[in-house]
Amino acid sequence: MPVDLARVTALRREIERHNHAYYVLDAPIVTDAEYDRLFRDLQALEAEHPELVTPDSPTQRVGGKPLDAFPKIRHAVPMLSIRTETDTEASGARAFDARVRRELGLGESDPPVEYSAELKFDGLAISLRYEHGMLVQAATRGDGETGEEVTQNIRTVHTIPLRLDTESPPAVLEVRGEVFIRRDDFERYNAKQREAGKPTLVNPRNGAAGSIRQLDPQLAAQRPLSFFAYGLGEVQGWPQPATHSATLDALEKMGVPVCAERTTGPGAATLVAFHDDIAARRDRLPFDIDGVVYKVDRVDLQRELGFVTREPRWAVAHKFPAQEQLTTVLGIEVQVGRTGALTPVARLAPVFVGGVTVTNATLHNQDEIDRKDVRVGDTVIVRRAGDVIPEVVSVVMERRLQPEPSRFDILQAYPVCPECGSHVVRLEGEAAARCTGGLYCPAQRKQALLHFAGRRAMDIEGLGDKLVDQLVDRGLVRTPADVYGLSLDALAGLDRMAEKSAANLLQAVESSKATTLARFIFSLGIRNVGETTAKDLAKHFGSLDRLIGAAEADLLAVRDVGPIVAQSILQFFAEPHNLEVVSKLRAAAVHWPESTGVQQSTGILAGKTLVLTGALPTLTRDAAKDLIEAAGGKVAGSVSKKTDYVVAGEEAGSKLVKAQELGVAILDEAGLLTLLAANNNNEQHVLDF
Ligand code: IVH
Repeated sequence: MPVDLARVTALRREIERHNHAYYVLDAPIVTDAEYDRLFRDLQALEAEHPELVTPDSPTQRVGGKPLDAFPKIRHAVPMLSIRTETDTEASGARAFDARVRRELGLGESDPPVEYSAELKFDGLAISLRYEHGMLVQAATRGDGETGEEVTQNIRTVHTIPLRLDTESPPAVLEVRGEVFIRRDDFERYNAKQREAGKPTLVNPRNGAAGSIRQLDPQLAAQRPLSFFAYGLGEVQGWPQPATHSATLDALEKMGVPVCAERTTGPGAATLVAFHDDIAARRDRLPFDIDGVVYKVDRVDLQRELGFVTREPRWAVAHKFPAQEQLTTVLGIEVQVGRTGALTPVARLAPVFVGGVTVTNATLHNQDEIDRKDVRVGDTVIVRRAGDVIPEVVSVVMERRLQPEPSRFDILQAYPVCPECGSHVVRLEGEAAARCTGGLYCPAQRKQALLHFAGRRAMDIEGLGDKLVDQLVDRGLVRTPADVYGLSLDALAGLDRMAEKSAANLLQAVESSKATTLARFIFSLGIRNVGETTAKDLAKHFGSLDRLIGAAEADLLAVRDVGPIVAQSILQFFAEPHNLEVVSKLRAAAVHWPESTGVQQSTGILAGKTLVLTGALPTLTRDAAKDLIEAAGGKVAGSVSKKTDYVVAGEEAGSKLVKAQELGVAILDEAGLLTLLAANNNNEQHVLDF
């Protein structure tokens, strides 16, 4: 074998082994970095030798070109459905066993029939066709006779082997099973989508079906799909094992994912036990199921039993109660979280779903309400799966009341926080509406206090989780200012608070009074203002009052402060409740040294963005940057339409070219210094106030 081919083959084997360990066995054997390295090596080799690219290469999983439509495929062996046993609980399994025995002509004295019991996965049925071990085609069930070819999309499912792991692959092996989405993958995917303001999946089942029917394989590749095999279609050149359970074992050996939650045993008792066990654990399974499936285990008996219309006599589905139900929205309220986010909650007419009575369901945020268009009075589908909070899946539009109820808008319905009366705002780019009473709001109290006392904030040693819980729960502390009014007596009454630790705490509270402006600003817990921004603000403004009085333009002149941070600061100080706490803290003798600050805000370059490129004749890069920032300007790394000036020196490269293309003003060092000189005159004047 030529060297490159040998290397490509070895790399593929190794990558697929890691894929299997990671996705199927959930037990990775290499680090992500090592995996990426192997993958990149393979990609590089294939790029060098396109003739070596094969359809079973792991690089081919990422998705090719979008299709106009899916080609139709006629199944060599039809994809059947199964009869659903409607009897409840144990009787369903007994009825199936009785029917099988009757049809096999077994009498009472004959031994019990061996059964296989497995889960009924809630996704989309798929047939995978392997020829000589290679995945050559994948199809949906369609009407059972004819399905759609979805090979490209199926290749993106990491748990599906592109090549069977066997020395002697069958000429033809069609593996049938279900594509589905695990609950954790579903939640993670939706959270990511929500964050990016992109559409979310309605539920795992629709998500799986929708992804496979997606014409663009690149999009399908982004969906976290999984697969479990449960049977066979056409088989040629393979001595199929004598039982269904042994067949699944054999598939598993070849690297095909098979669910471990299955059992084999004699008679109805096996089925009843499996049903009850799974019913009890259903909510804790990592994926949704809608019931269990019972199958006669012996393949020869399956053949003997045969089919009625389109359903085998040897298998039956035993369903569980639904996890989705219809109900009506009685009202929409909000809950204020620890970070001040207002989460809208639908109050529902009580409905029994997923095993419990549900009376409310989360609506996440305004975007979700808008997307699903949920209104008070609507009939909705609610879903409760596992321990997950019940959710409104969608509105049944045909049942919307007439005249239509009005749209629900959080800011309109709750202009002020229902917990504390502070203003509610929605920051640009954020999904959540938030209460601005960070220091004052009871819902945010514990979080605000913990942050306030933190080591990098006011550094009050000993004021941790447990103590904050007690202080807040007993009403001893409502805002950070109250911390400075605590007495030995009040502390002595708390659990696990010896006199010595109470005295230590009071000492820590006392020492925290002497702080720095940066720490104080950070301790306020203003949204989007972390430690570094707090330091920048302190340095820039030098005094708290100047920060409080700063207008948006002043804030934007601070290094690394953009419109979102500026808005957060403005909103925080616009809330009278917060100002009240700040002034109480000062009244309690919390203090710090102040300075005049940098006063860049009024500098000649305030609000301007400059880009430096090439070597300047006298100024170093850092010196130029300091001068620009001192004049209120910002230095950015790349040129865009928003750039105001490009300062170009010797050997300026692509940035200069880009500036010329975009028509951005270009300065040399002398030009920059002239600008800055104007600033110095200007600053003199400003500092005179
Ligand atoms: S066996 C000949 N086993 O349920 C029997 N089906 O109506 C073929 N399903 O859409 C089906 N889990 O996709 C079988 N463990 C399981 C299953 C299962 C889910 C789905 C299947 C089909 C429907 C059967």
